[in-house]
Amino acid sequence: MRLIVLIKALFFSALISSNMISCKPKSEIGLKDSMKGKFLVGTAMNTSQITGRDSIAINLIIKHFNSIVAENIMKSEVIQPVEGEFDFALSDQFVKFGQDNKMFIIGHTLVWHSQAPKWFFVDENGKDVSPEVLKERMKKHIQTVVSRYKGKVHGWDVVNEAIEDDGSWRKSKFYQILGEDFIRLAFVYAHEADPNAELYYNDYNMAVQKKRNAVVAMVNNLKAQGVKITGIGMQGHLLMDFPSVEEFEKSIVAFGATGAKVMITELDLSILPNPFSKASADISNTADYQEKMNPYKNGVPADKMIEWENRYLDFFKVFFRHSDKISRVTLWGLTDKDSWKNNFPIRGRTDYPLFFDRNYQPKPIVTKLLEMTNLN
Ligand code: XIL
Repeated sequence: MRLIVLIKALFFSALISSNMISCKPKSEIGLKDSMKGKFLVGTAMNTSQITGRDSIAINLIIKHFNSIVAENIMKSEVIQPVEGEFDFALSDQFVKFGQDNKMFIIGHTLVWHSQAPKWFFVDENGKDVSPEVLKERMKKHIQTVVSRYKGKVHGWDVVNEAIEDDGSWRKSKFYQILGEDFIRLAFVYAHEADPNAELYYNDYNMAVQKKRNAVVAMVNNLKAQGVKITGIGMQGHLLMDFPSVEEFEKSIVAFGATGAKVMITELDLSILPNPFSKASADISNTADYQEKMNPYKNGVPADKMIEWENRYLDFFKVFFRHSDKISRVTLWGLTDKDSWKNNFPIRGRTDYPLFFDRNYQPKPIVTKLLEMTNLN
């Protein structure tokens, strides 16, 4: 008799739990669930999230996102601050978190002129190193990092920001010493270290026509040389008046036509005025603080908030329309309180670029997106 009761109890509890998995209660549905079949939804993680200190953020990340990227701790100045001395303490924790939660893990970034350690480009006298030495250093850096996470990190931002808005090559140290071939070399080294990893070129202002054309030409040229390049990452550091949705869409289409996957890699929408005549995410391009450039210290007026939300939704409509080409949309952070936009391009402002407010509450845009995807 008791056995029958026990069997019945087990049967019903199994039924209940299987039901809960197949149809999650509405409050548990995350952005990643609602966009399943369209693209991955990612977020960039900061150090207090990676170390587990910010547990509220961790829970939100697990609920809403199925892809992660480290906002800073996999950049070369952190991973190899001194030649030959690699520090994987934080990146190991980051990758473990992604694995534990079965997320698509992105490595950001292998070759970038910013946040690179000074020693990378100079000899003991402070003179630029020869092309051979720089190639050796690039190879060692890329292959040490990529092989450590072989089969664990699924995609790498191999080269970040090599092209200027006017379509010319950025005159970085990599370019000055090795010429444009540094890009091909970086992809080849990464591919050797993990032949199964996805490999990306990532850049900002990708909606600018000359830049778009230059990126398409570069990707086609690499492909023609037999170099593996899986995807093109469009950093989405958007402003209220730049770029236009139309120009952004043209780039998605043009990048998709190369056969590469397209991804929106660093999405945030600043609500603050831009101090420059044109937008930029060049992190060396900053301006001084002025009170009038920080208008929403105590909150955003309702009509401005709606304008912000509608602009975000307009971009998402485009992303949904091109979900056949877009494999991932990654937000550059979780809450407004932690966004880099509070300090870029002007330090000390109060910006509102992300989906969660300063108290970790989802903004209405999250609900709107959940509703919108149900209709799609
Ligand atoms: C930013 C980080 O968000 C900041 O915390 C850091 O101080 C500077 O870099 N393009 C990129 C990102 O590829 O790595 C940059 O991240 C933003 C612009």
